[in-house]
Amino acid sequence: MTAFVADRFTGKVALITGTGSGIGRAVALRLAAEGASVLAHDVNADSLAETVRMITDAGGTAVGRQGDVTSRAECFAAVEAAVTTFGKLDVLGNVAGIAAGYHMPEQSEESYRRMVAINQDAPFFLCQAAIPHLLESKGNIVNIASNAGINGQAYTVSYCMTKGAVIQLTKALAMEFMKAPIRINAIAPGGVATTLSTTYQMPGDIDMDLLGRYMGFRGMAEPEELASLFSLVACDESINIHGAVLSSDRGMTAG
Ligand SMILES: NC(=O)c1ccc[n+]([C@@H]2O[C@H](COP(=O)([O-])OP(=O)(O)OC[C@H]3O[C@@H](n4cnc5c(N)ncnc54)[C@H](O)[C@@H]3O)[C@@H](O)[C@H]2O)c1
Repeated sequence: MTAFVADRFTGKVALITGTGSGIGRAVALRLAAEGASVLAHDVNADSLAETVRMITDAGGTAVGRQGDVTSRAECFAAVEAAVTTFGKLDVLGNVAGIAAGYHMPEQSEESYRRMVAINQDAPFFLCQAAIPHLLESKGNIVNIASNAGINGQAYTVSYCMTKGAVIQLTKALAMEFMKAPIRINAIAPGGVATTLSTTYQMPGDIDMDLLGRYMGFRGMAEPEELASLFSLVACDESINIHGAVLSSDRGMTAG
């Protein structure tokens, strides 16, 4: 682990989804390195077990829970598992997500509904389940949105819709709980070098001119860069940050 890592989560409990890969794994590793006890969640049992092994090998504390966030019951059970296992909940990280490109008129209903279930419905239900516990602990939520929730992007309509919803989930919840001891924020990454981006599917006959509008000029981020921002937003030093949508996109949404 890098030498600059602080120790801001000692005594804190975090539930992070999507920890089998990419940003979720990096967030789980980072929070554990900073002292958090992590309930690591993912649908993929093998990659989840690998994340838990990486954390425990590094001397951290993590318990894995395999489950599918498309199930509302699983969202509530995952929160309960974090509280039962570690006694409370301080941080909810909604990281699990999927992406794929389509000509909008051709995306199947099944594919559309899966995108909405994972990217939009699951953060809603996880927030519902977690908020009572976070009010008790004076904790916080960090939702992973996307630059696609800020800018319209061709061939990515349903993904953009779900990430726009994550941004509005964040802002509307921040308003509803303005007078309560809880913080709710979002991070909007640009391109990050993960399984999601390397396996991203686009139809073969797209107009590349339109893609260029959102490819960016500064290359891909590493998941650890997002984890670093996540730990800053979720730690108690960031008491001043509430209802924010923090872009970490190498300038993609600057203009
Ligand atoms: N990689 C990028 O370029 C990028 C850019 C902007 C936003 N994001 C967002 O960041 C988040 C993490 O993406 P990533 O790039 O790390 O992707 P990733 O594919 O590397 O990791 C996503 C994880 O979510 C898990 N997951 C998927 N469906 C699930 C389900 N139904 N139940 C439980 N777990 C499930 C997967 O198993 C995987 O481990 C996503 O919300 C994504 O939309 C990614």
